[in-house]
Amino acid sequence: MIQPIIMSKYVQEMSIDGDEPPPRFIIKQIPNPNPPLTSIPIIDLSLLSSSSSPYSEQIQELQNLKEALSSWGCFQATGHGISCIFLDKIREVSKQFFGLATMEKQKYGRAVNDIEGYGNDPVLSDNQVYDWSDRLFLNLIPHHSRKLQLWPTNPTQFREILSEYSEKMKEMAELLLKAMARSLNLEENCFLKQYEKQEQMAARFNYYPKCPKPESVLGVKAHSDGSAITILLQDKQVEGLQIFKDDQWYKVPIIPHALLVNLGDQMQIMSNGILKSPIHRVSTSSEKNRISIAVFHLPNSEVEIEPIQDLVDEKRPQQYRKLTNYGAINFQCFQSGKIALDSVKI
Ligand code: OGA
Ligand code: NI
Repeated sequence: MIQPIIMSKYVQEMSIDGDEPPPRFIIKQIPNPNPPLTSIPIIDLSLLSSSSSPYSEQIQELQNLKEALSSWGCFQATGHGISCIFLDKIREVSKQFFGLATMEKQKYGRAVNDIEGYGNDPVLSDNQVYDWSDRLFLNLIPHHSRKLQLWPTNPTQFREILSEYSEKMKEMAELLLKAMARSLNLEENCFLKQYEKQEQMAARFNYYPKCPKPESVLGVKAHSDGSAITILLQDKQVEGLQIFKDDQWYKVPIIPHALLVNLGDQMQIMSNGILKSPIHRVSTSSEKNRISIAVFHLPNSEVEIEPIQDLVDEKRPQQYRKLTNYGAINFQCFQSGKIALDSVKI
């Protein structure tokens, strides 16, 4: 049985009731609160995968991929082969889910000691600033890790669409891992080998309700992802994602049917620091609600990962130690206000 949920008010309810954000949501000074919009790199995945695209085009796109991931740590993926209709469908069922009455959503509520389910993130310390968002977090892979009782049956199509999305995301993540290896002149399976066929994948449906104080409240605080790869489906209408690069924040534009790929810390580790895990955050809007769907792909927590030895040499000595369960390291560091990647640096 699921344990009872300790729940203060959901952010969505506070937003609907027009509540002032409570003090624990307030950030005194958000650095660079209204950053410029910028174009981040666009990568056409069909050029990376298809054997039909001319060799020179493939090589060029692999070069672009390496360039994007070693500077921005993210890019907009087009040519991913997932239809616009399907992307709109998963957006639609997400919107329908968050549109349900609180009691109905609570059927899928997160238990006190669990991460999975609907609600807020577990609170890690007393002085933590809260995020102006509610989320539904669900394991996707391995299949036996799925807690189906937390998968909404309302809207009725939700489970079926999420299962299909999961298959597509797994395929895309594997394609990306191979392409990244090739872009670094490595054997294409070298990253996947570190996964030892034990990949983990989870989805996070984010709901950012409109907020009366966007100048002092964030949808998600600045963070880097603890995954290896994150694939994000942004809201089609409402911006919010911002990326930190070269000591500057930038707004990420919306390309309606592109998927935003960003690296997580585990890929920065495996690439010996050549590819970057970008710091990012989400702003709030006083006018519009925003929904996004993030899928995190990573090696199983028991698998040992380390920098690929072919990326270690005299000029670039090994930057990170060998480790398992980066998720737990990330969690503990976040709790004590430390940067997780620094704690595994050699
Ligand atoms: C995340 C995240 C960004 C967004 O879920 O880790 O960074 O736009 N989401 O929702
Ligand atoms: Ni993130």
